[in-house]
Amino acid sequence: MKKTVLVSGGAGFIGSHVTVELVQAGYDVIIADNMSNCDTTNYEGVCAILGYKPLFIKMDFCDAPAVEKLFAEHKIDAVIHFAAFKAVGESVAEPLMYYKNNLDSFLNVLEASRKSGTNVLFSSSATVYGEPDRTPVTEQSPRKSATSPYGNTKQMCEDFLRDCVAAYGMHGIALRYFNPIGAHPSALIGELPRGVPNNLVPFITQTAIGKRACLSIFGDDYPTPDGTCLRDYIDVVDLAKAHVCAVSRMVEGRMEEPYEIYNIGTGRPESVLELVQAFEKVNGLKLNYRIAPRRPGDVTEVWADPSLAQEKLGWKATRTVEETLASAWAWEKHLAAKAAE
Ligand code: WQD
Repeated sequence: MKKTVLVSGGAGFIGSHVTVELVQAGYDVIIADNMSNCDTTNYEGVCAILGYKPLFIKMDFCDAPAVEKLFAEHKIDAVIHFAAFKAVGESVAEPLMYYKNNLDSFLNVLEASRKSGTNVLFSSSATVYGEPDRTPVTEQSPRKSATSPYGNTKQMCEDFLRDCVAAYGMHGIALRYFNPIGAHPSALIGELPRGVPNNLVPFITQTAIGKRACLSIFGDDYPTPDGTCLRDYIDVVDLAKAHVCAVSRMVEGRMEEPYEIYNIGTGRPESVLELVQAFEKVNGLKLNYRIAPRRPGDVTEVWADPSLAQEKLGWKATRTVEETLASAWAWEKHLAAKAAE
């Protein structure tokens, strides 16, 4: 019997890649998404890659009766919860919108999962570590007080899951992603930022294609080797595969603790300048960039110690940063070709 995984937010950037990897690993997937932050591009791409259409349900996870109905009508072995707002700056301007949406939706997922005995995988973030005292960070590194409502919702949702697991005999995993970048090698699914991108790689690819005039590198006076910030850029397909490992561990009853947390990163720090130069080299182009003032709220450096995921999930990142940056560029060109049709 195939196991069924519900992917909330499955039409988005990470959810679409996870859907592909789950189906290719033999899972049935139900995608549920309110399409608040995406169009059908990624869902269509998923269908094209897989050669069939996974069940798609348009719904909002803040709608408790709808969530209850979904869980009542389907036997769901595990739910992966992506459905959330994710723009750090917007969350500072609209904290209530972020708290209502990101917390309510997850509480509804937890309630329904509790009733139906469903395993829960929560998409958390390295943002919970804030500015770490020591790098690389392990899962034992202290969480720092959140610097944005968005980051706060990630911490709170981790705590909701921890407490529900402890109280109700549930099983849950939180995956803490570092900086997800890149696209599927088919170039049929990828990141679709609305408006001006906040994140580095979409800004790079949009500058390279001519949608943006110039990339601003936010600060070159950090205490790092080249003065720019250090991050752990994780390929989205590698990241998606970590979800398959985590789901299998849950549904096959292999968890050692009922609530587990894993860092999902490469373990390799990359500076902003190194990333820009790697992008230029692998794609054979010159990027228009300038050094700009620091961006408020940025941490100097954060990267993962991913050894726990390797040991317990049997997962590690495999794609090189060059492959990933080539895939990001192929995706941007695919989008441009589609727009020109
Ligand atoms: C990376 C580096 C910037 C844009 C954020 C969220 C985090 C997570 C991923 C999201 C930094 C620099 C960026 C630009 C630049 N979650 N940069 N010019 O800030 O590490 O993490 O995204 O859902 O929670 O906080 O990622 O890609 O924005 O920045 O120089 O135009 O690139 O200063 O050093 P960040 P990022």
